[in-house]
Amino acid sequence: MRPLLLLTQSRKLLPALLRRQRTMSSKPSVYVTRPDVDASGLELLRKSCNVSTWKEALPVPRDILLREVVGKDALYCALTDKIDVAVLDAAGSQLKCVSTISVGYEHIDVEECKKRGIRVGFTPDVLTDATAELTLALLLATNRRLFEASKQVYNGGWKSWAPMWMCGQGLKGSRVGLLGFGRIGQEIAARIFPFKPAEITYTTRTARPQEAAAVNGRHVDFDEMLRNSDFIVACCALTPETKEIFNAEAFNKMKPNCIFINTARGGVVDQKALHEALASKRILAAGLDVTTPEPLPLDDPLLTLDNVVILPHIGSADIETRKEMSRITARNILAALEGAKMEAEVTV
Ligand code: NAP
Ligand code: GLV
Repeated sequence: MRPLLLLTQSRKLLPALLRRQRTMSSKPSVYVTRPDVDASGLELLRKSCNVSTWKEALPVPRDILLREVVGKDALYCALTDKIDVAVLDAAGSQLKCVSTISVGYEHIDVEECKKRGIRVGFTPDVLTDATAELTLALLLATNRRLFEASKQVYNGGWKSWAPMWMCGQGLKGSRVGLLGFGRIGQEIAARIFPFKPAEITYTTRTARPQEAAAVNGRHVDFDEMLRNSDFIVACCALTPETKEIFNAEAFNKMKPNCIFINTARGGVVDQKALHEALASKRILAAGLDVTTPEPLPLDDPLLTLDNVVILPHIGSADIETRKEMSRITARNILAALEGAKMEAEVTV
């Protein structure tokens, strides 16, 4: 090609190239810490943002997160990502939003985000029913010993119907105590109520008489809940006050027939103390959807016990729920980038 022609052509091309470059760079950039969130959320983002994602269906390694977040306008993260000062510093002052695909946000330094004017999005409400449903499933699997009994079918332990074999402890006529009576706690109570417990009590910092009326719920202090309950369900937020609130002292106050259920966070439990309480039959059983750490190592002593049911943090794992969580996480980002009202913003 002759030089003159080249020049003419490149003159023609230049504005188009510049325009293309400008459109690309004027789009906000979003880093997504998982490639396996439902595609509908990512599609929403891709309409107006440059989106990059971590490539493996596992939590992004810390060093890669610190590298990839540099210069991004928004971060789409999960509860397995620790979003602290180091991540915010690495991102830079243009970061406008951190949006997590979870209702729990203890993995995000919300105070620090607030100081820097970074808005934090989360996914309350949409997962309330799924998590309450899973809590009931876990409670019933634990009190009626479903996994322990089912194992007998496969390992030859089932010799015949036997009058007192694999008996559990029913909910009817029992006293149920909830630590936490927020969105999920209230829905758990609503699902327990039809099983005809003698009483449902709840422990929170603020009494909720109107919400509790539907289940004849009574606000009690933590000590009373520990001493009187046949079932205790942890469904609170993990905060500095609730961290390891279920410790040796708490387990020692519980009734020996108490069944402890945790769908909040592993961090609300001193797990060594829980193991001791279960192994010594100080309490009857436990059902855990959350542990410390996650996943629980295969040599964890809790896994050797028959009186514990452990699930791999699947509280909200209902297909439609997780799809909508992905979209809410994306819509939170889009709203924050436009300076508009977010669908669900952490405002503490
Ligand atoms: P929420 O509506 O904010 O309820 C949180 C409850 O915790 C409130 O009743 C709150 O009452 C109580 N609480 C906080 N600090 C407390 C304290 N120091 N003592 C006693 N109660 C306290 O939240 P949610 O939507 O129900 O979700 C609750 C938690 O469930 C989340 O934070 C998350 O960790 C967990 N979760 C787990 C799964 C799972 O997959 N297993 C799924 C979803 C959520 P007061 O503020 O009045 O004290
Ligand atoms: C799950 O644990 C959540 O916080 O959404």
